[in-house]
Amino acid sequence: MRNLIDIMELSTTEIDELIAVAQDIIANPDKYREACKYKKLATLFFEPSTRTRLSFETAMLDLGGKVIGFSDAKSSSSSKGESVADTVTVVGCYADIIAMRHPKEGAPLVATRHAGIPVINAGDGGHNHPTQTLADLLTIWREKGHFDNLTIGLCGDLKFGRTVHSLMAAMSRYKGVKFVLISPDELKVPEYVIRDYVTPNGIEYKEVRSLDEVMGELDVLYMTRVQQERFFNEADYLRLRDTYILTPEKMKNAKDDCIVMHPLPRVNEISVKVDEDPRACYFKQVKNGKFMRMALILKLLEVEV
Ligand code: NCD
Repeated sequence: MRNLIDIMELSTTEIDELIAVAQDIIANPDKYREACKYKKLATLFFEPSTRTRLSFETAMLDLGGKVIGFSDAKSSSSSKGESVADTVTVVGCYADIIAMRHPKEGAPLVATRHAGIPVINAGDGGHNHPTQTLADLLTIWREKGHFDNLTIGLCGDLKFGRTVHSLMAAMSRYKGVKFVLISPDELKVPEYVIRDYVTPNGIEYKEVRSLDEVMGELDVLYMTRVQQERFFNEADYLRLRDTYILTPEKMKNAKDDCIVMHPLPRVNEISVKVDEDPRACYFKQVKNGKFMRMALILKLLEVEV
């Protein structure tokens, strides 16, 4: 039985296979409408979410399956003091697969030891978010047609932004990739991401403070929200939250085929005026996320279509 806790549990070949299945789902949705009939997905969300939870639920519904779960820790027995281990032991008696989001790093990993059914990490604290990375990878694939030789700018909260950590790990495996890490000093990428993924793969990277300075070099610009909920003090958040605001003016210096991505939700970091720019891909990421989650559910449930 497989889980997905960390994106690196999937080989690049498996990523290619998931992309191929997702593309087939996009082209032939009817073929998949009953693929998960009689299967149940449990969404256990101990932390707020719009996209990820609804994306998982729609993915399962579009595969003909059913969905149970909760979207708020307060409405689950964890508010009575129940442990993650006990909650998932119970849910393992009802469902066939779990998607779990939790504010504590490592909670979905703990869940895998007790659930008895596949567990998917739908975001654990400031750590990882592998299924957002699947959405990001399909988007890059569909927009660029390849992963090799891309210069990827990641901008904003690179410290607490879990989608950044998973995407950097995944992209480190492709040839000729370069990272441009754009953040204030306080929000730099955690050292382990560089040590465990970037350096061993011989990936070039630089850390800069100014977005304007590097704009023209980028093939992909991945913007992120400053993660208010993971700050220890409000004053730091207020000081840092508007460090980067992408505007049509700034987009003038970007390559004609640079794509702009964002895992969403956005706060202020991308002006709504950028939405009309054909290079803006953040709403495409949302669509792609559902198809990759469908492909992942099929894989983990070992359903052949
Ligand atoms: C991201 C997350 O939850 O980490 N959102 C998402 O799942 N699309 C990004 C964020 O909250 O800023």
